[in-house]
Amino acid sequence: MDSLKRYPVRKNELLRAWDSADELILQHLSSLSLSDKRILIVNDHFGALASNLRSENITSLTDSFISYQATLLNTEEQIIPINSFEMLSGIYDLVVIQLPKNLSYLEDILCHLTPHLNRNSKIICGSMVKHLAPGSFDLLQKYIGITSTSLAQKKARLIFANFERGVSVSPYPLEVKLDGFEKSFVNNSNLFSREKLDIGTRFLLENMPKGNYKTILDLGCANGVVGIKAKMLNPEAQLIFCDESAMAIKSAKTNYQNHFSDEARYEWTNCYENGQKASLDLVLCNPPFHQSNTIGDFIAWQMFSDARYALKKGSLLRVIGNSHLGYQTKLKKIFAQSVIVAQNKKFMIIDAIA
Ligand SMILES: C[S@@+](CC[C@H](N)C(=O)[O-])C[C@H]1O[C@@H](n2cnc3c(N)ncnc32)[C@H](O)[C@@H]1O
Repeated sequence: MDSLKRYPVRKNELLRAWDSADELILQHLSSLSLSDKRILIVNDHFGALASNLRSENITSLTDSFISYQATLLNTEEQIIPINSFEMLSGIYDLVVIQLPKNLSYLEDILCHLTPHLNRNSKIICGSMVKHLAPGSFDLLQKYIGITSTSLAQKKARLIFANFERGVSVSPYPLEVKLDGFEKSFVNNSNLFSREKLDIGTRFLLENMPKGNYKTILDLGCANGVVGIKAKMLNPEAQLIFCDESAMAIKSAKTNYQNHFSDEARYEWTNCYENGQKASLDLVLCNPPFHQSNTIGDFIAWQMFSDARYALKKGSLLRVIGNSHLGYQTKLKKIFAQSVIVAQNKKFMIIDAIA
């Protein structure tokens, strides 16, 4: 495990690429006979499960670009993960799930699994106890079968279930009507604010930059609502949507195509790490403050740095964040100028000029 790397690889990385739930899952699997079994791994954080099981017949399913890249890295590209339910095939004898905190996503996963299970299929889920959403048990009982649990070990726990139910149809994606938009939005299950407009996003939509922008990036786009609003204000603009969630990219694409007839660009990526230098006129960003279960401002930092690199000189990054996050101080370190352009009790909107 010690040789496992996180993605992106950082010098002097202090965070581990695995957790005790990975260890507990692998410890349990070592007591089972896995040869001849078709194994599906779901939501492997940094490829700890895939890299330890790579000699078996495994498929790894992830929504996360970070997890995808880390799995490639840690398995020396022996395992190439899949990133959509449509790529599941046949029957899996064993499904190993690192439980997501997001119960909508878990429900979607379980529903999409049901056509790929039979009465002999076993599900083993792992989670750190502090991240285990209580509703996970109900969903497993509803879609898979009666659950049992392991004792907690190093603050992690396993949940077991055998497939006893029938095929289920997922309630996702949701179709959501948003104020100010004629067409509904199609929101996949692993999306930020999938049921309604987030209040921070709403504040950003009320405070969009006014100018004539030709190339606009919606950085961390989720369902693409910010970029779609920018396109309404700049009908001639070329739009780029990027996110590290494959479901976000899928939603943004559907929603853009429902609103406009021209083509936009969509990038499943980490921040905007491969962006072309000095190619953008405007970047709009509502940064996340966590990556999977790790909370921190490191993603915001990378997003701001990537935006700085990709913006033309004198062009604008507009950022929204909770006032207490102190984005203005960070932006001042990276950009020539930064100024607060709107503020309410909770949020701050900051302009940074490249
Ligand atoms: C706070 S949400 C904002 C979503 C949308 N722009 C809005 O305002 O409603 C942050 C988004 O960043 C995405 N994200 C998280 N980590 C990322 C990363 N490393 N690279 C790109 N996008 C990331 C999340 O998937 C999420 O869609």
